[in-house]
Amino acid sequence: MGVFEGSYTVEERYDLWSLATFKPNKNIPIHRWFYFKEGFSRDLVLMLLEEMGVPEGAVVLDPFTGSGTTPLTCMEKGFMGVGVDASPLAVFVSLAKTRIYDPVELRDALDRCLSAAPRQSPLPDGLSPTVRKAFPKRTLEELFSLKEVIEEVCSGDAKVFLMLALMNAAVKASYIYRDGSVLRFVKRPAPPLRPVFRKVAQSMIEDVKRVRFKSGPAIILQGDARRLEEIEDESVDAIITSPPYLNKIEYTKVYEVELEVFFGKRVHDLVRSYIGLVGREVPRTIPGLEDLPDSAKLYFSDMFDSLGEMWRVLKSGGKAAVVVAGGVYPDRVVESDYILADLAERVGFRVEKIRVVGKRVATSGRVHRIGAARESIVYLAK
Ligand SMILES: C[S@@+](CC[C@H](N)C(=O)[O-])C[C@H]1O[C@@H](n2cnc3c(N)ncnc32)[C@H](O)[C@@H]1O
Repeated sequence: MGVFEGSYTVEERYDLWSLATFKPNKNIPIHRWFYFKEGFSRDLVLMLLEEMGVPEGAVVLDPFTGSGTTPLTCMEKGFMGVGVDASPLAVFVSLAKTRIYDPVELRDALDRCLSAAPRQSPLPDGLSPTVRKAFPKRTLEELFSLKEVIEEVCSGDAKVFLMLALMNAAVKASYIYRDGSVLRFVKRPAPPLRPVFRKVAQSMIEDVKRVRFKSGPAIILQGDARRLEEIEDESVDAIITSPPYLNKIEYTKVYEVELEVFFGKRVHDLVRSYIGLVGREVPRTIPGLEDLPDSAKLYFSDMFDSLGEMWRVLKSGGKAAVVVAGGVYPDRVVESDYILADLAERVGFRVEKIRVVGKRVATSGRVHRIGAARESIVYLAK
């Protein structure tokens, strides 16, 4: 079924909703190495690559790469994947998932770590109460000891791989409970870290043995989608991406333990580089969007810059698919898909279609229906 909105088609395909979530990745080797609730699925990327007619060997960019679903899928299918993200955690996870590993070397590195004497260094100064609450004290000490061992006895890709295994194992041996977008701690008997680490690393090595790639490792860059400094004009054949959703900023908080333990960063260190996060500045208002709430003005001004960069780096004739969702405010629903399509036209794109894959009824005070927040894929062409 399709209706026309302006010059492009709006199509409803609610059967595709689960593809826009991370859930289908949970059982797929390598994709499952980090559960990223905000991610989309490998199947969505496969569908888009096919629909967009991306030729084999093409360069495919995801400027909000998150857990690396787009570049990883590209490697499986013979495309050159390029992923950019502002978060050091996302960059690290994407990097770890898109290397080409030698399983023998990984097993050897794992054995060396497990047979090394535990380090007795004291816990780092200034650890936040959040991190201290997340683990039994003994586990926290073991975590920092194992981290130090990996840093000392491993190098290169094996080090990245084992750090990700340790990060996964640490969450399993912690009190962390991610309740939707809220981070909670639940005191429960937590398993000892070392055997969990061994088991997680071994099962990740099994995944490495299972997957065959058609292209080399992806390029993963820490950067800002509003200024893709390292990417040249007209150097990309296609873009598949999903920026942070409007008015959904809690995602930065749910990974705060990993950010601090593995990167020494606090959430507030990152805020200014994140799309749509309100800083002190008064948001620039894009003409036509004067009536939006301030956080939406800032979000769309950031997205305007990001779309401008996507247009700049895309080759003429290239295509882009951007997954977005409506923002729910106390008095209204902001229709992100239509606004994004409008902004994309202003930077020079042609909007081919909007495919709505999800719809959530929004209420005010849980009583009055104020609208429906759509989750959509916006298809663009240069
Ligand atoms: C919805 S997630 C992307 C999920 C991804 N499609 C996947 O499957 O894992 C959005 C990502 O945008 C990143 N981000 C936020 N602001 C950014 C910016 N200014 N530049 C680049 N990435 C940014 C966040 O760190 C987050 O990883």
